[in-house]
Amino acid sequence: MERLVEIEKMKFEGEFESSLRPTTFEDYIGQTQVKRNLAVFIEAAKRRGESLDHVLFYGPPGLGKTTLSHIIASQMGKNIKITAAPMIEKSGDLAAILTNLEEGDVLFIDEIHRLSSAIEEVLYSAMEDFRLDIIIGSGPAAQTIKIDIPHFTLIGATTRAGMISAPLRDRFGMQFRLQFYDHEELALIVSKAAVKLNKPCEKPAALEVAKRSRGTPRIALRLLKRIRDFAEVEDESVITQERAQMALDALGVNELGFDEMDLRYLHALFEGRGKAIGLSTLAAALSEDEGTVEDVIEPYLLANGYIERTAKGRLASAKSYEALKIPNLQKMSLFE
Ligand SMILES: Nc1ncnc2c1ncn2[C@@H]1O[C@H](COP(=O)(O)OP(=O)(O)O)[C@@H](O)[C@H]1O
Ligand SMILES: [Mg+2]
Repeated sequence: MERLVEIEKMKFEGEFESSLRPTTFEDYIGQTQVKRNLAVFIEAAKRRGESLDHVLFYGPPGLGKTTLSHIIASQMGKNIKITAAPMIEKSGDLAAILTNLEEGDVLFIDEIHRLSSAIEEVLYSAMEDFRLDIIIGSGPAAQTIKIDIPHFTLIGATTRAGMISAPLRDRFGMQFRLQFYDHEELALIVSKAAVKLNKPCEKPAALEVAKRSRGTPRIALRLLKRIRDFAEVEDESVITQERAQMALDALGVNELGFDEMDLRYLHALFEGRGKAIGLSTLAAALSEDEGTVEDVIEPYLLANGYIERTAKGRLASAKSYEALKIPNLQKMSLFE
């Protein structure tokens, strides 16, 4: 069941986003440090005529991990094979993928933290020695067969860095954390995409979208697509600030870029009335697992100072009380 959902999701993302995907480092906005390092390592690998070392990308969804992986493969002049950990169930699945690669190809494994430990084991020797050790049979009759595979580059992506086992993580020569984008960067992404969509966007309109996109290109592009529909219906050839504003209001998008999960999270914190709330309690209140809360919901709120992490748990900051126009009970009680 879950597998189907995953595959469907990937297909949807694929169709939706592939047209807007930048194909070069120049078109890939922001993440300057990551790009600069990658460019050096790619150039070096090419000069030596070697495959690129394995790369791990981590960070919240929609920040450009998949996109960067495509760019890496194209810069190396190699093919990329895309898969996701839940689709690799048996070591035979992995063997089939690896033996079909060509020298220097990129294998992209999304959600790599979800690989089973048995598959991880197989991956270790593949990554290190470009060899598959596959055990056939069991008990005294068990046999290990060794198969040489092409020198490939594994690119792993995960939203959950904490869930990758240390031995797997250590086998990635390069590890990059992707950062949230600032408003200027997001506005630029929106402007470039708008041109590709044949509906140029005025700078103030692009900024309007940027502000409500939770630091995330995927959200910015989704909003842009919807706004474009509004402009389309109004027969406007350009997206103006007024139209963007009107569309965003009509879509009910929060002015601060919070999504529904952020709002539920913050309201759960407000319930604590100034007392820190532990991760497990919060996760239970939101019906999410702790890892998702920690790695997917909290990074944006933390990076923007809406919450604080203390030894006792999480606290909503004054900024979030103000943002959501909630009276700050903790502060008020000082005057009682
Ligand atoms: N730095 C960037 N510059 C331009 N577009 C970007 C950038 N990062 C992401 N995008 C766009 O945002 C969307 C989501 O990116 P993606 O690589 O799928 O994110 P992730 O794999 O991290 O979830 C894609 O359509 C991509 O084109
Ligand atoms: Mg992705």
